[in-house]
Amino acid sequence: MDKLNKVIKIVEGLYAKKNPVIDWNSWILEGHLKVVAAWVEDISKKSKFDKESTIAAAYLHDLAYAWTDKFDPDLDEKSESEARKVLKEAGYSEDKIIFIVDKIIHGHGMYDGKEPEHIEAKVLATADAFAHFSTDFYLVVCWNHYLFENKDLNTYKAWVLKKIERDINNKIFFKEYKKLAEPYYKSLKTLFSLYPSKIS
Ligand SMILES: [Fe+2]
Ligand SMILES: [Fe+2]
Repeated sequence: MDKLNKVIKIVEGLYAKKNPVIDWNSWILEGHLKVVAAWVEDISKKSKFDKESTIAAAYLHDLAYAWTDKFDPDLDEKSESEARKVLKEAGYSEDKIIFIVDKIIHGHGMYDGKEPEHIEAKVLATADAFAHFSTDFYLVVCWNHYLFENKDLNTYKAWVLKKIERDINNKIFFKEYKKLAEPYYKSLKTLFSLYPSKIS
């Protein structure tokens, strides 16, 4: 088995386990990670970049979600250190591990508003945002109260409206993908801006 397939198998194994904090593992794997990887594949038909490393990053970029939730204070740190272990186990070199974890995965997070320096991180950010637009992500989060235990609907709607802005304006780096995202963005914006009203 090649290195990338080994990574995918290990990640699938981690998500097959029961998450002790939140019951979302099968959705994250099917509804997010595989979709992010598929968008990376799609972008690779139009742009040149290190596809194998970016697909590995797609499978590893939310790794801590296999055993914890978004409110874990060490989420990114644990996620990145576990990703290094998985890549090592799959046989990747130290240089490749640094590239995949520090440049692609860390870079796509755009901490402190920093734009990624590598195209691979821009591809991952684009694919990540597209996976929110092109799946039932916003419904699933709402239906299962994934990130909004004890919060009301208006708080949720405000979160969605903010997140879709970030996705389309800051995370989608390629012009044609921005265009492709427009109808998704517009319909979500319309839906989540609705408020009880009557025609006068
Ligand atoms: Fe992300
Ligand atoms: Fe993600």
